[in-house]
Amino acid sequence: MIQKKTISKNGSAVLNDMTRIITWDNRYSVEIKKLDDQHKELINAVNELVQYCLADSTEVDEYFLKTIQASSSFAKEHFAAEERLMEAVGFPERKEHERQHAAFAKALLALVKEFEEGRRTVSSDLACFFSAWIIGHIKISDKKYAEYIHSRNISFTA
Ligand SMILES: [Fe+2]
Ligand SMILES: [Fe+2]
Repeated sequence: MIQKKTISKNGSAVLNDMTRIITWDNRYSVEIKKLDDQHKELINAVNELVQYCLADSTEVDEYFLKTIQASSSFAKEHFAAEERLMEAVGFPERKEHERQHAAFAKALLALVKEFEEGRRTVSSDLACFFSAWIIGHIKISDKKYAEYIHSRNISFTA
């Protein structure tokens, strides 16, 4: 059983409002099943991270690290799938979208490195960052390629 951290009033080690369990909502849908399924899986991973960073034990730290590593590699696979699709359909903002993916991967890597080096308290920053970025990116950037594809009735293989 995971012990929950006590939330202090001064804000240290407290998760901010962005760190919360996310529930899938059809508003997040890009109406491409494979990519929606990957987004759902990423949201599940984020939710797991949020749960772990609320817990306080070294055992949980190991789970947290495994989860973040698995989530990062899954995110990379997902980004590659989106990038192949954007290229195949000639999405004009592909380069900017790819730049966002790369910036996320770089920032995530830096946080994971800090965690691995022993700064365990970075776990809530990691969970916050992953959670806020993924949902914001789906709602704004991923929706753009979806709109481009669907409004032009472009046929594609995801
Ligand atoms: Fe995505
Ligand atoms: Fe994306």
